[in-house]
Amino acid sequence: MTRQTLVAGNWKMNGTTDSIAELMSGLLSGLDQTGGKQAQVLVFPPTVYLNAVVDQCRNAPLGCGAQDVAVPESGAHTGDVSAAMLADIGCTHVLVGHSERRADHGERSDLVAQKARATLDAGLVPVVCCGETLEDRDAGRTEKVVGEQLDAVISQLDEAALARLIVAYEPVWAIGTGKTASADQAQQVHAFIRNKFASINDTIADRLIILYGGSVKGENAAELFSQPDIDGGLIGGASLTAEQFLPICQAGA
Ligand code: 13P
Repeated sequence: MTRQTLVAGNWKMNGTTDSIAELMSGLLSGLDQTGGKQAQVLVFPPTVYLNAVVDQCRNAPLGCGAQDVAVPESGAHTGDVSAAMLADIGCTHVLVGHSERRADHGERSDLVAQKARATLDAGLVPVVCCGETLEDRDAGRTEKVVGEQLDAVISQLDEAALARLIVAYEPVWAIGTGKTASADQAQQVHAFIRNKFASINDTIADRLIILYGGSVKGENAAELFSQPDIDGGLIGGASLTAEQFLPICQAGA
């Protein structure tokens, strides 16, 4: 089956009111001019800017998601933001288990699974991130590590929930380093991920969107996105300017 390409910009902890206004105006005018010929496009701004960006995405060919979510629905959890709040302001997607959250906040896969569940319960789509370190890859443990990260989430969800997931494969050694996984290296892991879902349900596996992330740029996006199991990208650094991000969106057309 043909899956629609999805290109998502993870802005991480970058931007100001002014720089984000400039980025959004560049994206909105650039995306409008392509006459609908592009991938589905999402942006993941820092939490404080979500409301403003969601408002600008209304009636635009652009969706908006959050970079993280708390597990509880509400209550005495100072500093946290619930999935219900994200849904309330109009977010549609949430990144869960990004390697930077795993590294900076010690998030383990069981917590990632709870975040995916909380996201689904609020009617939002979790983008479940997974990926190995360079040490893991060199030791031949890529599939073991990625498999375990995904199993923690998959084992907590029924098939109806699994059918709503998006997966992002982001090898840690390729994030922000300029070292992209080769199209072959990425395709191999994407095929492994799709097979894992196929062992549960072929139709879910066939429809599953699997994004690649790690130093994607305008120059390498088309080759990566043309691989049979790569359905788009999760873009960090190159999503921070319209000049760099739009060519990647167009590579997914
Ligand atoms: P870079 O595109 O900057 O390597 O970041 C990838 C990433 O972590 C997206 O979530």
